[in-house]
Amino acid sequence: MEMQNNKTASTASDLQFAVSESYKTIRTNLLFLLSGVTSCKTITVSSPKAGDGKTTNAINIAIALSQLGKRVLLIDGDLRRPSISKKLHLENTSGLSGVLAGFAKVEDSILQVSGSFYVLPAGSIPPNPSEMLSSTAMDKLMEELKLIYDFIVIDSPPLGLVSDPLVIAPKTEGLVLVVKEKITKHDDLKKVLDSVALANIRVLGVILNSATVQEKYADYKNAY
Ligand SMILES: Nc1ncnc2c1ncn2[C@@H]1O[C@H](COP(=O)(O)OP(=O)(O)OP(=O)(O)O)[C@@H](O)[C@H]1O
Ligand SMILES: [Mg+2]
Repeated sequence: MEMQNNKTASTASDLQFAVSESYKTIRTNLLFLLSGVTSCKTITVSSPKAGDGKTTNAINIAIALSQLGKRVLLIDGDLRRPSISKKLHLENTSGLSGVLAGFAKVEDSILQVSGSFYVLPAGSIPPNPSEMLSSTAMDKLMEELKLIYDFIVIDSPPLGLVSDPLVIAPKTEGLVLVVKEKITKHDDLKKVLDSVALANIRVLGVILNSATVQEKYADYKNAY
């Protein structure tokens, strides 16, 4: 799957009503790619660097899928710089980290955003994200959630900076890679694809994010 998306809405209310045609195309391609999966269909979203548009795309893909009436859970798997709660103006519940640490029950941590669209926020930032994501608690949680939802979309940190997506993706059908038009360097994409291939992870598709928003991300590097 090779797709290009357009500039899209980025506030919660805009997102709910203005999932663009390009996300409908991405949705259709994902449905084809995952048509062999008869139970819950699960994907991980990542990209080479910070600010490539992972979270924006994960949110829009999840909303586009939920608009088919499917029960969709969007998980904030970026336990280092979580941003789904903020982008969707949700409270940050005990979230994924709270559930994995055993502080909270998953049913109390998932928020219903609209109709069939649900979000599990990241929760408090833990000191050991990779360890938490690779725990058996995470495996158990995924098994439990797969019984409830038709789709699970997991947002993650940048592959070029941390290995968390390599831990998350094997728990899903594969990876949707976001690359940023004119920003993502060929070498960086190649490195990411090599590490993904080495880990035997399936790349379901690459989304060319053609956001025109001008922002600086230099300070993001320090957070990962
Ligand atoms: N297709 C798009 N149209 C408009 N704005 C976009 C698009 N994609 C990303 N943006 C904007 O670019 C910024 C970074 O996007 P986003 O947070 O989705 O990236 P990210 O890869 O998840 O970043 P991080 O690595 O920090 O988690 C945000 O301000 C977002 O609103
Ligand atoms: Mg993000």
